[in-house]
Amino acid sequence: MPTKCLFPAAGYGTRFLPATKAMPKEVLPVVDKPLIQYGVEEALDAGMRHISIITGRGKRAIEDHFDTSYELEDQIEGTSKEDRLADIRRLIDECTFSYTRQVTMGGLGHAILTGEILVGHEPFGVILADDLCIGETDSVMQQLIAVYRKYRCSVVAVEAVDPDQVHKYGVIDGRQLDANIFTIDSMVEKPPADEAPSNLAIIGRYILTPDIFDILRRTPPGKNGELQITDALQIQAREGMVLACQFKGRRFDCGSVDGFVEATNHFYNLRREKQ
Ligand code: G1P
Repeated sequence: MPTKCLFPAAGYGTRFLPATKAMPKEVLPVVDKPLIQYGVEEALDAGMRHISIITGRGKRAIEDHFDTSYELEDQIEGTSKEDRLADIRRLIDECTFSYTRQVTMGGLGHAILTGEILVGHEPFGVILADDLCIGETDSVMQQLIAVYRKYRCSVVAVEAVDPDQVHKYGVIDGRQLDANIFTIDSMVEKPPADEAPSNLAIIGRYILTPDIFDILRRTPPGKNGELQITDALQIQAREGMVLACQFKGRRFDCGSVDGFVEATNHFYNLRREKQ
């Protein structure tokens, strides 16, 4: 089963300016936990303890977050505040973290190809931290793993969205294979509403087989002149098999201010209920 998970995190986060002028969007807190930490917890809970992060200029805070801060640890040792570090300490203890930089911005496909050096020749997960997901019982990545375990091919998570939203996503054309699983016939990156093959939108969770790297190398630039993972997956689907899993759970689009605020309210209310 995949033990590595790739986190593309080189984007500029322009939708959150000025907050992201000097701070990576991945460390913006949803309540009191950086966005990317939710994703890393999801990866670890799905058995992926090798965390590979694609970073870029101005992203060092991500590396510092997943590292020990001796001064801070020393200051709060033995105080009630120690509890507040329990979750991040667990990640630091149980995961390995490796980083590589994406020096030019060339799209999600390009970011994933940049991660080849970290991932090697194994199936791997991809989490886009912007999509903060909560599973109904199992997390979304655990649901994808269950599909991968059975079919051993690339799997993407999909969600039914309003037709007027499809232009923001990769959209699939699929045939139902099982209760919530589709065989993908084709997929298109950010189509206009009237050209979308369905309203099943890809959200930021993938399991990819390693042949995707060779496919990415021969995938021509797509939408916005960028190398799109959707186009590479379309080739993989045509030449072999790619499945979509309509996950059970809820996603917050934390790449937008509205989604970020919704996620914040959700996690804040959860915490209030527990108190
Ligand atoms: C990327 C992918 C797109 C996918 C989306 C999910 O787009 O290219 O296919 O639907 O993530 O969040 P982005 O949001 O990075 O523009």
